[in-house]
Amino acid sequence: MNYIDRFEEGFFMGKILSIIGARPQFIKASVVSRRIQEAIGIQEIMLHTGQHFDANMSDIFFNQLNIPRPDIQLDIHGGNHGAMTGRMLVEIEKAIIEYKPDRVLVYGDTNSTLAGALAAVKQHVPVAHIEAGLRSFNVKMPEEINRILTDQVSDLLFCPTDTAVKNLEGEGFLQKPVRVLQVGDVMQDAALLFSEKATAPKMINSATGFILATLHRAENTDDPERLASIVNALNLLHSELAPVVLPLHPRTRKLVAAQGLELKVHLIDPVGYFEMIWLLNHCDLVLTDSGGVQKEAFFFGKACVTMRDQTEWVELIDAGANQLVGADTQDILSAASSHLGRQVQDINKLYGGGEAAERIVDVLVKANA
Ligand code: UD1
Ligand code: UDP
Repeated sequence: MNYIDRFEEGFFMGKILSIIGARPQFIKASVVSRRIQEAIGIQEIMLHTGQHFDANMSDIFFNQLNIPRPDIQLDIHGGNHGAMTGRMLVEIEKAIIEYKPDRVLVYGDTNSTLAGALAAVKQHVPVAHIEAGLRSFNVKMPEEINRILTDQVSDLLFCPTDTAVKNLEGEGFLQKPVRVLQVGDVMQDAALLFSEKATAPKMINSATGFILATLHRAENTDDPERLASIVNALNLLHSELAPVVLPLHPRTRKLVAAQGLELKVHLIDPVGYFEMIWLLNHCDLVLTDSGGVQKEAFFFGKACVTMRDQTEWVELIDAGANQLVGADTQDILSAASSHLGRQVQDINKLYGGGEAAERIVDVLVKANA
């Protein structure tokens, strides 16, 4: 039944404007959007800010994960954070005025998230935030600012973990006229839904025994000392411990070259989600600074070494599944050696077990979007 039929049959249709723009948001939106399409009572309009734009950072996810083509496609990327966020704010506001959504839905903690939330609240449109309540307590991270401010203007706060709820409780959210809900993590939904689609990347011939690495966070790539120390660690691991497979984010590619550094590992271009879950399934260790990949290591039973000083996913540290090592070469080497080949188990279903999108859409329908 399409929108018009439902409208004529007298259903109230809440109209949701979903804002996405960066790789992890496409993956998160794929599971939520699928549920919205099945639900009666809401219609989704999708806006892609253009923050990520290479085919292997954007289109590939729409194709693989069957995400509806965006109704509104902006082309905003690059520049300083303020400029990027500001340009998005201007254009998203125009879309809100034109499409008159009942609610704006934002994901995670990117500049696209903050621009979407601000544009909405300035137009008096309520905001729902998926991945609310996460904190690293490091306000130098652009993501931390984005998530704190987005939570402040949201009235439906969908938390992925108990820790996220506690963080919001600590900031006084339970006394505010908003709803804080622990729904589980949509990334676990995606990992479960698509696990059977895992596909070996074309350029990989060794099926096991490798370290899967990802590296792109600003606190590592934009700090020459940290970047050099991590590159050194990856090169040493590759030559002395196990092959390192690194699908390289375009940000890191640029900054490694700009610093005159050389990555002597198995470098590949960014891969699609099906290839990524194959790599997660077949590796012997995950070494990352990504938020999402820390959890995916856990979903696929692999120990993770995280090249950051803090993580929002503290339950993985408590469960002994993840170790924070920062950017020091020796710390990375010794943690990687001790965790290589170690399996981990999700005994306590820390991330909700794959029903997050269903719960979220149920709440959105009942809230009339
Ligand atoms: C952004 C998010 C980060 C998230 C990451 C997911 C912010 C502040 N940061 O970081 O939280 O973890 O996305 O991957 O929103 N680039 C390309 N092609 C692309 C995409 C990016 O060349 O398809 C280049 C850009 O031109 C820019 C650099 O990569 O020079 C960084 O892109 P940007 O979107 O600013 O930040 P990310 O590091 O991707
Ligand atoms: N990912 C992917 N291909 C890659 C690298 C990552 O599909 O080459 C996926 C990864 O599996 C996870 C998401 O992208 O689902 C994480 O995005 P990223 O690390 O860019 O951002 P973060 O989670 O740190 O915000």
